[in-house]
Amino acid sequence: MAQFLESARDIAREAGALIAGHFHKGVQFELKDQYDLVTVADRASETLIVERLANLFPKHSILGEEGGQREHSSEYQWYVDPLDGTTNFAHGYPMFNVTLALEHAGELICGVVYDPLHDEMFSAELGGGAYLNGKRIHTSAAPSLETALLSTGFPSRKRHESVNVHFFHQVSMCTHGIRRGGSAAIDLSYVACGRLDGFWEFGLKPWDMAAGLLLIREAGGRTTDMHGGPVSLYGPHAAVSNGPIHDELMGLFGEVFQGRYRYPLTLISPKE
Ligand code: IPD
Ligand code: CA
Ligand code: CA
Repeated sequence: MAQFLESARDIAREAGALIAGHFHKGVQFELKDQYDLVTVADRASETLIVERLANLFPKHSILGEEGGQREHSSEYQWYVDPLDGTTNFAHGYPMFNVTLALEHAGELICGVVYDPLHDEMFSAELGGGAYLNGKRIHTSAAPSLETALLSTGFPSRKRHESVNVHFFHQVSMCTHGIRRGGSAAIDLSYVACGRLDGFWEFGLKPWDMAAGLLLIREAGGRTTDMHGGPVSLYGPHAAVSNGPIHDELMGLFGEVFQGRYRYPLTLISPKE
């Protein structure tokens, strides 16, 4: 397994340098959907990653966000997000990463998230712990929502169907706050190293969360769906935390799913 992780780190570093180069030059974006951006850097990074993986592990299957797919009957499956945080990237907002993860027979066995601007390499191996630049990391000790900082994200596609603003409001009322960083893999990595205490999002794709979920498990945190059940890479939502706040967060989400609001939304009066 060590060779997989080592290769994933090397490839993420190389792809990270490539996208950082594009970032410093400035790039144009194209639209995949009304608000779903893609750039030349996303595509170049995916080409590089898929080429490297296919050379090293020709029998492994690969699923990349930008269509770089290789299907084999292998039990090994790579998930590749060549540039997570494209909207940030395209606006010059310095928060994005390259992330790859490997699954064996349906179980995540290694994953990396590399933030090239901060030169931060998050990596994890099943049963081997989670690391940031080679140093062991752990989730935070925040005991309750009242002292927690969380993060979430909103979809770029079909945003009119998103119900997340309801969850956002409830969580914002009983925690230290919520961040919307714009890069799901960094959000997950920050939970793994204790900078954040929890994160949730609807509609993430396998490549957004595969590495991050393993990082959090190996760092001592919890990963479920938003009902507290098992999380699936292909499921409709994911919720992660440091561990101690998880049940309380699920309780709050449970109320919102049932339409019961602990903190009613104040409506704007037209006179004000
Ligand atoms: C997006 C980012 C964002 C999240 C979106 C993702 P992309 O990935 O991770 O934070 O809210 O759901 O699609 O498109 O920049 O790779
Ligand atoms: Ca992504
Ligand atoms: Ca992406």
